[in-house]
Amino acid sequence: MSLIFNPLTNWFSKQFFHHSSMAGYLEPVIQLFKPSWRDGYYRAKVLSVTLIANKTVALELKTESRWPTHQAGQHIELTIDINGRLSTRVFTIASSPNQAMHEGVIRLVIKQQDAGLFTPFLSRLTVNAWVNISKPKGTFLLPQSNAVSLFAAGTGITPFIAMLHQALHEVAQPIHLFYYAKPNAHLLVAELESLSNRLPNFTFTLLSRSIDGDVVKKLPDCHNTHWMVCGPNDFHKTIRDYALMHQQSLSSEHFSLVDLHSTGDEKAHFQVDHGGIKFSADNQQPLLAQFQANNINVPYGCGMGICHQCQCVKKKGVVRDIRTGKLSDYGEELIQLCVSQVVSDVEFKA
Ligand code: FES
Repeated sequence: MSLIFNPLTNWFSKQFFHHSSMAGYLEPVIQLFKPSWRDGYYRAKVLSVTLIANKTVALELKTESRWPTHQAGQHIELTIDINGRLSTRVFTIASSPNQAMHEGVIRLVIKQQDAGLFTPFLSRLTVNAWVNISKPKGTFLLPQSNAVSLFAAGTGITPFIAMLHQALHEVAQPIHLFYYAKPNAHLLVAELESLSNRLPNFTFTLLSRSIDGDVVKKLPDCHNTHWMVCGPNDFHKTIRDYALMHQQSLSSEHFSLVDLHSTGDEKAHFQVDHGGIKFSADNQQPLLAQFQANNINVPYGCGMGICHQCQCVKKKGVVRDIRTGKLSDYGEELIQLCVSQVVSDVEFKA
């Protein structure tokens, strides 16, 4: 029934209320009964915010019952209200699907960036505050067969922690974790020790580049296993390059997902997703012109950044303001298409 009813109400809403869905139009009313309810998102209640290491917080969230349980290794988009503006970031879930299924609880472990526009605000979240989360996403999952070597750096430990907790409930293959961090800065070590006591096939080594050298030294010993990598770009690139050279099977997840092309001098193309309609845009022309060139009708007026009629919700990705050269935040925000150029892949709400 909803297959017919939803498109019908959404069509009605677009025609008469200029809103992509009826639920979106009614959002302010629904929020009177359900705080932080937003069309297209799930709600979650903050259970705890704990500083677990220097500048690292663990955030426990109680998900609403309709949230689809994640698979270990998947991530979510977390949206919080920062001074009246919604901001979104992507984080991997650091707890097991089993806990989500039985207790409705998920945990995120997040490094707070000093000059960040999002993570410093997590400490201000209070218990029982509401946040929004997306459905679980991603395909970074533990393979069912084969021995596995896990390579983590910093907060790249989070998907592996979820996988290891889940392995307590399933038959697990031999797994060894190489975990890199600064000396004495490894996260969740007590949890790793407990997991290795309970999982007969799991072992781990804590390493620091300044003491143990580059990760590449460890790689020749792991050839007969499947590799999984999670960490910053340079860590990921070192292992990926070695794996390519040695035809080694590897799956990976890495930070700094936005590949910024910020100089603007050299022409580059990026993917734009406007509510599921995708096209390629360059970093030289205003986005409005490129929407029009691709026959995507969006409202506009002055074409020079004054009337705000071309405002559009950017869900993720980075754009540059042509007037000031300033780069946008990565997460969700309102931008003006006529004075913005892409500098990464970008997704817009239709
Ligand atoms: S069209 Fe007027 S601000 Fe963009």
